[in-house]
Amino acid sequence: MQHELLRYERLAEDLSSIIAGGTLRPGERLPSVRRLSRERQLSVSTVLQALHQLEDRGLVEARPQSGYFVRHAPAPHEQPNARSTPDEAVPVDVSQRLIQVLQTGGKPGVAPLGAALPASTLLPLAALQRLYGGVARRHPRLLEGASHINMDEAALIRQLVLRSVGWAGPLAANEFVITNSCTEALGLCLRAVTKRGDTVVVESPSYHLMLQLLETLGLKALEIPTDPRTGLSIEALDLATRDGQVSACLLVPNASNPLGSMMPDEHKRRLAKLTAERGVAVIEDDIYGDLYFGSKPPRPIKAFDKAGNVLLCSSFSKSLSPALRLGFVAAGRYRRQVALHKTVSSGGTNPITQLVVAEYLESGSYDRHLRSLRRIYERQVDAMRAAVARHFPPATRMTQPLGGFVLWVELPDKVDTTALYDRAIAGGVAYVPGELFSASGMYRNCLRLNCGNPHTPAIEDAVRRLGQLLAS
Ligand SMILES: Cc1ncc(COP(=O)(O)O)c(C=O)c1O
Repeated sequence: MQHELLRYERLAEDLSSIIAGGTLRPGERLPSVRRLSRERQLSVSTVLQALHQLEDRGLVEARPQSGYFVRHAPAPHEQPNARSTPDEAVPVDVSQRLIQVLQTGGKPGVAPLGAALPASTLLPLAALQRLYGGVARRHPRLLEGASHINMDEAALIRQLVLRSVGWAGPLAANEFVITNSCTEALGLCLRAVTKRGDTVVVESPSYHLMLQLLETLGLKALEIPTDPRTGLSIEALDLATRDGQVSACLLVPNASNPLGSMMPDEHKRRLAKLTAERGVAVIEDDIYGDLYFGSKPPRPIKAFDKAGNVLLCSSFSKSLSPALRLGFVAAGRYRRQVALHKTVSSGGTNPITQLVVAEYLESGSYDRHLRSLRRIYERQVDAMRAAVARHFPPATRMTQPLGGFVLWVELPDKVDTTALYDRAIAGGVAYVPGELFSASGMYRNCLRLNCGNPHTPAIEDAVRRLGQLLAS
C-alpha cells in the first residue's frame, strides 16, 4: 500500500513539474493512461490515482473520451501560503462586526461580492414554484399541522440515502435528521457533542458563521493551519489533539469556504482514524461537495468513518436556493442527541419544502442542474480571478478554488481590509474582510470575494474600483 502510494505521488510530481516547466502547456493533452502505465510500469489504477491528484490540485482536467489536458490557468497568480496559528484556543468575538458587514453588503446598489450567495438567475426557481403548488395540492395533510416529533419526510431521506451510495455506500436512513438549513445542522451538532467552555478545532481561515456558532455557544476556537489546496493540516491536527483537550473538529473539507481547498482522500482517511481514536467528534460541512470543478465528486470524510464519529452536514442553499432553508445531518452515533436538540429548538422542518426537494431530486432534474451549475461557477470563479489579476495591486496572491464560488485574496501586508471596508461600501462594493475568518484577528490583509454572480461589466467595474481603493 505504502509502496503504491509513493509511486503514484512520484508520477504526479513528475507530471506537475513538466507542466510547471512549460513542456506541456495549457490546453495540451497529457500522455494517455495506457502509455503512462506501459512506460512507467505502473498499473492503470496507479496512473489514474496520479491523474486524479493533479485534477484535485486544479492542474489538469479530464475530457470525456479524449483523455487528460492541462487546465487553462486564467491568471498565473501565486496562492497564499498556509499561515502558522496561535497554539492556544481562544474565545470568539466576531458576531457584531459580521452582522454589520453582511447587512451593509446586502444593500441595493452595492456590488454583491460579500456574502457567498448565488445569483437568483442561476437557480431553478420556476421548477421549484411548480413543485410547491403541486405538492401543496397533492398532500393537503401537510398544511394541517402535525406532531413536533419526527416530521422528517421519508421520501427526502430516501433520496439522500440514494445520493450517498456514490461516495460512502450508502448511509443508513436512520442516521439522518432534516434541518432548517446547514446553519441549523451545524449548531445542533455542536450542541450534541460539546459543552460550554470546550475547545473546537477549526480551519484557519475558517468560515465566519462557524466562528459565530462557537461564540454563541461559549466554545473556544483552536485555529489550525490550512493549505489553500489540501485543506486542514493533519500533522497540526495530530499535535493539537494529543493532550485530550479538544472536543470536536468543525471543518469544510470539500471546496472549503473561504479557501476553496479540497482535502485529499488520504488526509480524510487519516483524519477520520485519528479523531475516532482520540474521541474527537468531526462535524463536517459538505455544502459545496456537489459543486466540485474536477471530473469526479469528492468524497466526504464520512466516507472514511468506521466509528460513527463523523456528523455530515449540508443543505441545498448553494445549489437550489438559500431561501428553502432546507438542510440535513447524517449524525452517526450522535443521531439521538442531534434529533433531541432539533425537536427542542424548532420541532421540525417545513414538510412541504422537504417533499418539493425530494420530488426535484427524484425526477433527475437535480443532477442535470448540478452538471451545468458546476461549469458556470467554475467560469465565474475564473473570470473573477482574471479580474483580480488585472485590477488589484502587484504582489496580490489569490487562491485557485477547486469548487464552490468564493475567492480568497491576500494583499500586501500594509493593506488593512477591515479599515477599508466602510470606504468600499461607500464606493458601492462589498467584500468580507479577512479578519472575520479568524478567532485570533489574523488575515487583516486578506478578503473574500463572492463569485456567485455572472461576471458582467458591472462586476468587472466593481473589482476595478475595489482594486483602486486597495492600492490607495
Ligand atoms: C461552508 C458553508 N456552510 C454553511 C453555509 C450556510 O448554509 P445555509 O444557508 O444552508 O445555512 C454557508 C453559506 O455561505 C457556507 O459557505
